Amino acid sequence: MDNKIFFFDTTLRDGEQVPGCQLNTHEKVEVARQLEALGVDVIEAGFPVSSPGDFESVVAISKAVRFPTICALTRAVEKDIEVAAESLRFAKHKRIHTGIGSSDYHIKYKFNSTRDQVLERGVAAVKFAKKFVEDIEFYCEDAGRADNEFLARMVEAVIAAGATVVNIPDTTGYCLPEEYGRKIRYLMENVKNVDKAILSCHCHNDLGMATANTIAGVLNGARQVEVTINGIGERAGNTSLEEVAMILKTHKHLDLQCGIETQRIYPLSLLISKMMRMPIQPNKAIVGRNAFAHSSGIHQDGVLKHRENYEIIDPEDVGVPASSIVLTARSGKAALRHHLERLGYHLTKETLQEAYEKFLEVADSKKEIADEDLVRIMDGELHHAAIELNRLQVTCGKSASPTATVELLINGELRRASEIGNGPVNAAFRAVDRILNEQIDLEEYLVQSNINRSYDTAKVHVRINHHNRSFIGFGVDTDIVTASVEAYLNAINKIGILKVADAGTSKAMA
Ligand code: KIV
Ligand code: ZN
Repeated sequence: MDNKIFFFDTTLRDGEQVPGCQLNTHEKVEVARQLEALGVDVIEAGFPVSSPGDFESVVAISKAVRFPTICALTRAVEKDIEVAAESLRFAKHKRIHTGIGSSDYHIKYKFNSTRDQVLERGVAAVKFAKKFVEDIEFYCEDAGRADNEFLARMVEAVIAAGATVVNIPDTTGYCLPEEYGRKIRYLMENVKNVDKAILSCHCHNDLGMATANTIAGVLNGARQVEVTINGIGERAGNTSLEEVAMILKTHKHLDLQCGIETQRIYPLSLLISKMMRMPIQPNKAIVGRNAFAHSSGIHQDGVLKHRENYEIIDPEDVGVPASSIVLTARSGKAALRHHLERLGYHLTKETLQEAYEKFLEVADSKKEIADEDLVRIMDGELHHAAIELNRLQVTCGKSASPTATVELLINGELRRASEIGNGPVNAAFRAVDRILNEQIDLEEYLVQSNINRSYDTAKVHVRINHHNRSFIGFGVDTDIVTASVEAYLNAINKIGILKVADAGTSKAMA
């Protein structure tokens, strides 16, 4: 049996289904580029029929990425498959991922159907998809709870119809590792044409067993793993890429290879956490802040005597800095450059100087500078915003004409303008534009709500265009208009708009 394990990354599809963590196309392309550099074999880029945004993202990623296969998800529905094929038209290597439920739960209660009927629909979907794309992956949804005999029948039929990969998802995260491994073994031994396709593990983490199940699948013959960075995904998440990659690397005796450049894991983990605004739990395996932190005296002593006394992974193997080089207010530019390069920021002499100045500002108020601080410094977030919202007042409602009064502090100087608009957000943005007296085009505006009993917040993402350059901003507040203006200003501050503000303020008084 071949020893290569294919890494199928679904951070941008299953991972992105986490409420409140949606990325825009621009951000998805950035992640896809980093996944390519990381060495994944397949990028599941989205579910194109689900929204125009998902469609656009698959198109954009197909154009931006060359080496990995780009995969688009569909249901076993002709329209979905046509749309997916269309979204993949620019992809160098393309795959359609179609499928249908395979457990009796799904067959009865989701499809109100029979085993024979869903099997027929699955086969028809593969045949239809094959008209557009050669590489077809079929998912037997909820395979974790499916009857193995029926599952084998389904797998055999879809391979006969042309599926090149068959995904055996534990959709509900139900299986025990031994049980999931046995399922894969059963398929390997009972599906006659199994040698014509690859079996894939797609495990969810509802009982904290996603990684264990995936490894059990691989040990029993599966050769593709479906994973996400930081294990993000719906509910308790998916199998985490970094855990599987490091298990294969650490347990060399398994003799299983993959193309993951493990040193790139940590910077990408930070990027995903930051973009999706999803903090990494401190004790998360491989990428958590404490994953390599030894705090007890006995452990520290042991590690200093011989690292492998308490560490099975060299932190540098996953791109985590050697603990000896700690950044504090006394660190010099060389240490800063070392850490920034490790995180993927390659700076010129001038930009290093600029970053160093911001770093010193932050380091003065903190004992130690963590990687998350560096990322924020580089993205301008810790830098004192040149333009700040001081006050906002809006009037709106049925039959009222939406009006906003905005007060900005520009380098400490108060400026105010009032505007009407087609809604309160539009009025407030217009008031900001008036103060700055600049041409700023709003390219994208996205609101997500985060509802919890005591604290309902709106998260707003915006993308603006200023002289053909795009900037992204983010704002969060219990007031949706305030969150919107904060996001707008967050993006504007990234332009280096100080110059704009200086030019605009003299003319912009209300
Ligand atoms: O968990 C699951 O079953 C899925 C499929 C759509 C592949 O994500
Ligand atoms: Zn899933």
